[in-house]
Amino acid sequence: MLLVKKVDDLIQIIGKKRKAGLSIGFVPTMGALHAGHISLLEAAKSENMLTVCSIFINPTQFNNQKDFENYPVTIEKDVYLLENSGSDILFFPSPDEIYPHAMQKPGLYDLGFLETILEGKYRPGHFQGVSQVVHRLLEIIRPDNLYLGQKDYQQVQIIKKLLSLTGLNESVKLTVCPTLREPDGLALSSRNLRLSEEERKKAAAISQVLSKIKKNLQSGNTDPLIAEAKDFLAMQGFKTDYIEIADARTLEPVKNWDGSQKLIALAASSLNEVRLIDNLFLN
Ligand code: PAJ
Repeated sequence: MLLVKKVDDLIQIIGKKRKAGLSIGFVPTMGALHAGHISLLEAAKSENMLTVCSIFINPTQFNNQKDFENYPVTIEKDVYLLENSGSDILFFPSPDEIYPHAMQKPGLYDLGFLETILEGKYRPGHFQGVSQVVHRLLEIIRPDNLYLGQKDYQQVQIIKKLLSLTGLNESVKLTVCPTLREPDGLALSSRNLRLSEEERKKAAAISQVLSKIKKNLQSGNTDPLIAEAKDFLAMQGFKTDYIEIADARTLEPVKNWDGSQKLIALAASSLNEVRLIDNLFLN
């Protein structure tokens, strides 16, 4: 595997491969890699002749400085996992490479309703930062295929919008890969590394309440299902930002289900300092 730190080097290396006719699959990450990330790389590897992974903890998408400072870094293990997964290139840039004109303030993308709800509401500016870095990475790498995880479902919707806003949807095909979970249901996440042993035992409650919503879903008013889920998490010591039942296509909240509309349940809840998110298709 090639480890590349400079934008110009990467453009040159990939340019040669593209000229030689190689298709390029790209997996953007912030590192602290786990099996969920590796599943995206495996999908990329199976469908492309060149697989590129980026590791960049993007400062502009953190609305909370403490969360940025505490974001786990495990670069040696990451390199080992990437070598084993058969990735071809690791792009590991410094902030200066990604943002050469100092830290540009994002706020340039017309993401509309999508960035006003759920994560967008609780993490103001987050999706502008995500859009900014993904746009920059796509301009540098110009992949044929981009791989994202359903784990960050709203991010997927945002990046779909970004692709159409920038015209990149003409050249980049987006593939969404399923969420990988621990045996007890907890969605794999880099942030799980920050859970204490006791918190880790409780953390599966988020996926459990989502499964329970799925099991008990009936047409009509969805509020009681959400209230029950929130109460259960509160009893376990979680502080919940949101649990929402929404239209899986638009993410508009669904208060009264007609029995046929495709739904997704999404949750964000914290155990002490560690904020976890998860989602589940309901039908
Ligand atoms: P990060 O949290 O490192 O996630 C990188 C990719 O891995 C995302 O597409 C995410 O949805 C996917 N992923 C995370 N956990 C997963 C799981 N349990 N199963 C399957 N896929 C999973 O998301 C980001 O980084 C950043 O916002 C980024 C897009 C890189 C922009 O900075």
